[in-house]
Amino acid sequence: MEGGTRSETIVEAHGLNHWFGTGEARKQALFDITLTLAHGSFTALMGPSGSGKTTLLTLIGCLRVVQNGSVRLLGRELHGATEADLTVLRQRLGFIFQAHNLHESLTAMQNVIMGVQVRAGMSDALAQQAAARALGLVGLSDRLDYLPANLSGGQKQRVAVARALAGNPAMILADEPTAALDKDSAADVVDLLKRLGAERGTTTLLVTHDPRILDRADRILTLEDGRIVSTKGEV
Ligand SMILES: Nc1ncnc2c1ncn2[C@@H]1O[C@H](COP(=O)(O)OP(=O)(O)O)[C@@H](O)[C@H]1O
Ligand SMILES: [Mg+2]
Repeated sequence: MEGGTRSETIVEAHGLNHWFGTGEARKQALFDITLTLAHGSFTALMGPSGSGKTTLLTLIGCLRVVQNGSVRLLGRELHGATEADLTVLRQRLGFIFQAHNLHESLTAMQNVIMGVQVRAGMSDALAQQAAARALGLVGLSDRLDYLPANLSGGQKQRVAVARALAGNPAMILADEPTAALDKDSAADVVDLLKRLGAERGTTTLLVTHDPRILDRADRILTLEDGRIVSTKGEV
């Protein structure tokens, strides 16, 4: 587990603004965002389409460059960080997107191994162990050699969860991970994220409209037109 107690801060944003486009087309997508995510917390981010959820998630996840304001992630300031710094930080994160983004030509096991190696830079043997363990945790031990085409939507998303969790990331960032799933599969994926996150002390930030996730979140942040308009729950 990453060291530290529940009260330790994993993410701290202050006065974060973000713009897209240049000249006439320049448009502000985020306004003066300030938030704190504690170690081990499970936070849901909601809001209408276009409110800035993905922009905020990708800034925190080092997938976009911070233009203005401050974001500290795992004790490092992202504003002004070099691409090399961002790459190192990104390796400590696990990502899950709405589309599972698995490689269709690779088996479940190979997909997870690839994710582990990209993130943790592990040896082949250790990556295999970590991948098999992660696939076991999501209940897919009997599907290691299946190609994505032969898995259901829910199973594919569980492979994506395994890929994000294998290699023990400090934080999971998920963008509408259950949006494309039927109710039962979505519930499985939510339970997994919540349970595995709690067991490992992983901090989780996920964009969702799913009421089952909102029920289980420690905190719910709501964005509207690029601003945080409500915060429910404890830090
Ligand atoms: N790559 C981009 N180029 C230009 N505008 C963008 C880009 N990505 C997002 N936006 C704009 O920023 C705003 C927030 O988008 P986004 O963060 O994707 O919202 P959400 O995830 O809440 O639907 C929207 O107005 C969107 O059109
Ligand atoms: Mg989005």
